[in-house]
Amino acid sequence: MFDALIRFIREQYRTDEFIPLHAPVFPGREREYVVQTIESTFVSSVGTFVDRFERDMAAYTGAQRAVATVNGTAALHAALLLAGVKPGELVVTQSLTFVATCNAIAYCHAEPVFVDVDRDTLGLSPSALEAWLDASARLDADGMCRLKQDGRLVRACLPMHTFGHPVHLDRLVDVCRRWNLALVEDAAESLGSLYHGKHTGTFGLLGTLSFNGNKILTTGGGGMILADAALGARAKHLTTTAKKPHPYEFVHDEVGYNYRLPNLNAALGCAQLEQLDRFVESKRALAERYGAHLAGSGLEFVREPSGCRSNYWLNAVVCDSREQRDALLRATNDKGVMTRPIWQLMTHLPIYENCLRGDLATAEWLEARVVNLPSSVLPVDATPLVSS
Ligand SMILES: Cc1ncc(COP(=O)(O)O)c(C=O)c1O
Repeated sequence: MFDALIRFIREQYRTDEFIPLHAPVFPGREREYVVQTIESTFVSSVGTFVDRFERDMAAYTGAQRAVATVNGTAALHAALLLAGVKPGELVVTQSLTFVATCNAIAYCHAEPVFVDVDRDTLGLSPSALEAWLDASARLDADGMCRLKQDGRLVRACLPMHTFGHPVHLDRLVDVCRRWNLALVEDAAESLGSLYHGKHTGTFGLLGTLSFNGNKILTTGGGGMILADAALGARAKHLTTTAKKPHPYEFVHDEVGYNYRLPNLNAALGCAQLEQLDRFVESKRALAERYGAHLAGSGLEFVREPSGCRSNYWLNAVVCDSREQRDALLRATNDKGVMTRPIWQLMTHLPIYENCLRGDLATAEWLEARVVNLPSSVLPVDATPLVSS
């Protein structure tokens, strides 16, 4: 039933072998920089590649400061702490996300509140956020947002740019400003994506990235915090054991974290970042071809929201039913073409099922229907055999 799609995917990747959902590619100076790092002996958490990776990423995204971390989850945890999230407080997020988004909230001993996503972005809906706030929260005389029912503080909002597609940031920034919520963007999947010409991860107080092996740019494992200069300096301090600068004394002025990215991983990151524009172009071209191939197929291809330039990290389709979704997953995986359903809603996981929530109708609907298709960057010489 999905033979034409399977054939199309094989033509893009020019192989009869197993096709993964997303495999990293290393066609640039990765080997050279890694060998250079080994030869320098600076393989651990201090080194020139860490500094360069941070500088280059700040320049690329337009953030005032970028701070490298050991992974994206650590970046999120530190970002939430820096946004002032304290034990017992609430952070509003989307229930349709990867579990790391919520786990970072839990690491702060805070609690997630789940609101719905928008159909066009698959990410946190500003109107769902506002509806929940109107129904459940109040703005007190001290300017803080608190839960009507028990006075708990609602500190922050943590949207996630699903599969690289930016959420409606203008409206979200506005709702967060009016309700005095710190906006922290989980941009783990959206490096290279633009909203009205500006990089995701740079709209909130802080933003975070992931460089896990399945992301558009990989350091093996790694992450980044994007912030202004002052919060960036705080982020560096907090993620490097809170050690005060001193030539030889060990003075730590708070309980910090060892969330540093090793120089060896940063070397890989510097080489990957040199090619990021090409990776984004490759993915956008692949998405264009998926869109054209799937037109009229009965599977709705997920396109970038209007006003956005998405990195199309993972291509996705919306099936017309759970039955069609299951048939697609079976047909492709049986034939060695990896596809995957979207995550289970966080509210369906026992660890988060008792958290506060708004209406989640769109997230529930999408959970039953969305499937990711193979999305790896194509090798430079792998021009597709068919153009649409
Ligand atoms: C949405 C989202 N948030 C956070 C993370 C966590 O990143 P990491 O795996 O680098 O810890 C990931 C990916 O892994 C992700 O997809």
